[in-house]
Amino acid sequence: MSSHITRRDFLKSAGALAAVSALPVSLIELAFAESAENFTFAYISDAHIQHIRGKEFVRNWDKGLIRAVAEANLMTPRPDFIIFGGDLAQLGSKEELDHGAEMMSALRGKVHYVMGEHDYYLDLGEYWEKLFGPQYYSFDHKGVHFVVLNSILTYDDWTYHRWPTAEQRMVEMAGLDNPNGSPFMVGEKQRQWLAQDLDKVDKGTPIVVFSHSPLQKIFRGWNFWTEDAEEVQALLRPFKKVTVLYGHVHQIQYNQIGNISFNSVMATAWPWPYPTTYRQAESHLPKLTVPINRADPFQERDGTGWQFINLATGNVDAHYILYDNPARTVAFNTQSGQPEDKQYQALDNRLPPQNHY
Ligand SMILES: [Fe+2]
Ligand SMILES: [Fe+2]
Repeated sequence: MSSHITRRDFLKSAGALAAVSALPVSLIELAFAESAENFTFAYISDAHIQHIRGKEFVRNWDKGLIRAVAEANLMTPRPDFIIFGGDLAQLGSKEELDHGAEMMSALRGKVHYVMGEHDYYLDLGEYWEKLFGPQYYSFDHKGVHFVVLNSILTYDDWTYHRWPTAEQRMVEMAGLDNPNGSPFMVGEKQRQWLAQDLDKVDKGTPIVVFSHSPLQKIFRGWNFWTEDAEEVQALLRPFKKVTVLYGHVHQIQYNQIGNISFNSVMATAWPWPYPTTYRQAESHLPKLTVPINRADPFQERDGTGWQFINLATGNVDAHYILYDNPARTVAFNTQSGQPEDKQYQALDNRLPPQNHY
């Protein structure tokens, strides 16, 4: 690929892509001072492939993934690799995972997979591992250390002893506002692995962590939450530049906690409502330190689109190209030391909250 990609060239080709298709692919550009270090990767997440019976699957979700794969294959310049951010399946069955894997197999390029709760809680990741490999790992690419975590584990008692069948365990974890659910966590074993993995990495190396759930506590009722988030954050604290990119929330979110920037990615299946609706839940616990905003999630493609992320300074500038909404930029403000949605930070510019339920 070209060793020098300007943002304008990039947007030009992305515009052509957007004209071809209206589906969400996240394309991310890491731009370093040395242009030879420039590279891109695509990010597809939360396809929720859902089996009905026999060879029938929910077509709307199929279409979301198929189109995202097609767009990723059209990207110019070619992304160096592709991340799938978790929730490939809806209820973790072999049929769903096989069908999702078949659609993903059309992607050109190396794919790194992240485990989602909808992939996991039927057989605890056994079949997923056969298809996609280990549940947590790290890799280095052009001067960046990438870490993939399985952040959707939970307490052993809930996992192994609470439910009479694996099917019921899966359904209980898939529900929202479900008192029978259980909070996600990375867990001690993986945290020990992470500590050892990071031990070898120079503290000036940019770190990008992929998790399915946010490695921060946003809203417990929907598991926009990771129980041991603070402990994971502590392991990341010694590094100068850290970004956590996560799926699961099906909407734009961003936040800054200490040295760690948080950015979410879009789903190919559907958008979840904006947290303004969270106040209707008893456990309204927004801990975001940065105000966020979004439009109406009940437009089919609202909250979907693609973005590229520029890490020129080691911090994230996320450029969202949205199909049903104006383009958005969530840029790291070096003065305030946090990501900010430039268009919507001012109170007067906020979009009104939706009142759908
Ligand atoms: Fe999801
Ligand atoms: Fe999820």
